[in-house]
Amino acid sequence: MNESQLTGASSDPVAAMHRAQMAQMNDPVMLSATGVSDEAVEEPGGTASDSVQGLHEMVMREQAEPRDGFEPVPFWVAVVCGALLAWGGYYIGTYTADFRADVYDRADLKNVAPPVKPLPDPDPQTVEELKRIGEQKYQTICAACHGANGQGQPAQNIPPLDGSEWVVGDQASAARLSRILLYGLNGPITVSGRRYNGAVMPQQGNVLKDYEIAGVLMYIRNSWSNKGDPDNAKPAITAAHVKAARAKESGRPTNGTQPVTEAELLKIPITYSDLDSGPPPTKN
Ligand code: HEC
Repeated sequence: MNESQLTGASSDPVAAMHRAQMAQMNDPVMLSATGVSDEAVEEPGGTASDSVQGLHEMVMREQAEPRDGFEPVPFWVAVVCGALLAWGGYYIGTYTADFRADVYDRADLKNVAPPVKPLPDPDPQTVEELKRIGEQKYQTICAACHGANGQGQPAQNIPPLDGSEWVVGDQASAARLSRILLYGLNGPITVSGRRYNGAVMPQQGNVLKDYEIAGVLMYIRNSWSNKGDPDNAKPAITAAHVKAARAKESGRPTNGTQPVTEAELLKIPITYSDLDSGPPPTKN
């Protein structure tokens, strides 16, 4: 054994193991007793190295007592660990998609999960459907004023709906009825040859949805003696009409502060439809 072996320049396994044992033991008593210290080992050449070499020869003759927990690792364990590490590295490199968070974004799950069944379309398309929806709304809202059978209350200046020309007669259109319901009605109006003035029809535009307004209108057009849509195939008024009327009257408040008047309604040509393009006649 020579100095280079002691200072670590050698690859001699026995010397290396020795150094490891010395370091592990780190026994200050033994180190001081044998005169082995970092300085002594580091010191190049000379008597210190000679004594160190002698000491080490002594130490090398006696193998250190094996201590629990410091045995060398069996070769096969090292091989298995190495193999597992290599496999782990390969796995991460292959399956982590560059660690991009969006690859595992939970929001993406909706794209793979079965599509959520949409709610039933709230825009009914047949007269019967609209009537069914409208009847309930009529009885809870309109009947208090216009009567359960649409007869109105002439003594209270509330006109009838049954037989009214504004509902099924020559003054009736989807555009006019939508506006009466959406914004309310105020001022004098002639219904069935009688002049009504003094009471106010309250707006429903902030109370009912478009399809409910269409429903209630289809109900009053096809109840009692009213036969507004006899073929029962294509409703004269749908949610689309009410929605289009709202859009054409854009910005008009539905809180009852701007009710329509008879004069305004008469300005709307009976053939006019809000579904057509162009500005609404009420804006002229
Ligand atoms: C608070 C009482 C009241 C309620 C509730 C009411 N109306 Fe009216 N309605 C009136 C009055 C009053 C008029 C006439 C307004 C005027 O003189 O300008 C009228 C007029 C009308 C007209 C036009 C004139 C006619 O008789 O054809 C229609 C259509 C109408 N209402 C439908 C309805 C419908 C549908 C409802 C339920 C969503 C309803 N009203 C709820 C009081 C009411």
